[in-house]
Amino acid sequence: LGGGPLAGRRVLVTSGPTHEPIDPVRYIANRSSGAQGTAIARALAQAGAEVVFVTGPADTPPPGGVEVVRVETAREMEAAVRRALPADAAIFAAAVADWRVASASDRKIKKGAGGPPRLDFAENPDILAGVAGMGEGRPRLVVGFAAETHDVVAHATAKRVRKGCDWILANDVSPATGIMGGTENAVTLITGEGAEPWPRMGKADVAERLAARIAAALA
Ligand code: C5P
Repeated sequence: LGGGPLAGRRVLVTSGPTHEPIDPVRYIANRSSGAQGTAIARALAQAGAEVVFVTGPADTPPPGGVEVVRVETAREMEAAVRRALPADAAIFAAAVADWRVASASDRKIKKGAGGPPRLDFAENPDILAGVAGMGEGRPRLVVGFAAETHDVVAHATAKRVRKGCDWILANDVSPATGIMGGTENAVTLITGEGAEPWPRMGKADVAERLAARIAAALA
């Protein structure tokens, strides 16, 4: 058995974007690189945890030493998360698409006389809120993310309550910060006790600090 402060703990991490199909060759996506989620999974594994890493189609390759579950859509991610439970902690770093195309075509949509197609959207399940609201089988620690451009602490504090999770790691993604797609992050950890701003640091350092906090919370 390996050592480390998270030895014997099972932790689930979601990461990356989701892709929502329009037809067999087209999809709707977002710009998440998966960098922060991947760094968190790596730090948790290095701290000795058994990590299940549920990832959408991300640019960043998954870390070594974790169980990788690759998914494409939000609904696939939700199913994979349910299968990965039970876990001691669950960290939701994925940028899940809020909407999917209500009825994706099973054939390529052709250009034609009818003009451009109209797409109807349906709301995707909120995976974080679903797990945070579980009765029996809820992970002891459920952590969500909030990417905000203004009033970061107020919005993230409200989000923690609305989603029913234990912690929110909030980051300021206003363009001037250069955080979106960059190597650094400036986060505030929101817990039931309040808001704790962390200094700006590399995404790997954010991950290590979070892993240490998770280990302390589960100890
Ligand atoms: O509501 P918002 O998308 O800002 O919430 C972000 C948090 O919720 C992140 O932790 C994200 O992984 C999670 N989330 C989710 N399922 C969704 C939408 C967001 O798990 N459908």
